[in-house]
Amino acid sequence: MTKILVATDKPFAAIAVKGIREVVEGAGMKLVLLEKYTEKEQLLEAVKEVDAIIIRSDIISKEVLDAAKQLKIVVRAGAGYDNVDLEAATAHNVVVMNTPGQNSNAVAELVFGMLVYGSRGFFNGASGTELKGKKLGILAYGNVGRNVARIAGGFDMELYAYDAYTPKTVIENDGVKAVSSTEELFKTCQIVSLHIPATAETKGSINFELMNSMPKGAMVVNTARKEVMDEAGLTKMFEERPDFKYISDIKPTIDAELAAKYPDRYYATPKKMGAQTAEANINAGIAAARQIVDFIQNGNEQFRVNK
Ligand code: 3PG
Repeated sequence: MTKILVATDKPFAAIAVKGIREVVEGAGMKLVLLEKYTEKEQLLEAVKEVDAIIIRSDIISKEVLDAAKQLKIVVRAGAGYDNVDLEAATAHNVVVMNTPGQNSNAVAELVFGMLVYGSRGFFNGASGTELKGKKLGILAYGNVGRNVARIAGGFDMELYAYDAYTPKTVIENDGVKAVSSTEELFKTCQIVSLHIPATAETKGSINFELMNSMPKGAMVVNTARKEVMDEAGLTKMFEERPDFKYISDIKPTIDAELAAKYPDRYYATPKKMGAQTAEANINAGIAAARQIVDFIQNGNEQFRVNK
């Protein structure tokens, strides 16, 4: 019997697991659950006899792939797949997919929770600022970026975006001004929301020079990946720009230091929670299960991300 493992260090909502189970068992396959595991060894043991794995930010390294002798497919229930060793997967003849768009509204909604929290001084009771009329820069206009633009319309913000891979016309059709570079976006916008993946190209790319070019009252919101930040540049920005705020859904390595020194200008969620809604869990989890069933039964590779 085909076995599908759900390996989630940060579990899906129970209702999403129920939906995943229905899809898996409805296709005559078996669901195996490994939730809230704390040791890599638990994952190495669990993958031994499974044909497919559904993960979130869980690490699928070469070591995990080596241990998973029957594995045919890994589906990252979500957008970013920097947690999967794609090269090793290809070498093991394992298909890797993501579920694009399924959790993006949840992440975009959190951006606005963070924006309001930041512009109201982390709810410290002092007079803050409004979002209305502010220039919001959206860095990367993918599924999350597009949802951010949609919601920002309700706040009456002035919208700008830069995306190296999306034609300007697509961005401008949404009433968003498409700028020509990341530099132009930071120079123009007082608030920037990051939606770039962590790749060799983007890692450490949000540096001091970029952030320091932002207008007064600068605020950067990161619901993407911690790796895209140049942490030395972030420290310098806090030191040199007393107006600067940074709010993140992923703790930087220097979290404790920033939290101690800049409690009025820095905030990070205790645990990454952009995609932690019942709706996003249901959408991404069930999409992952369906993609696996469709791949195993019909060979459909539509959402494959490795070559
Ligand atoms: C994603 O890439 O889909 C988001 O960062 C959500 O990640 P998570 O599933 O680990 O919450």
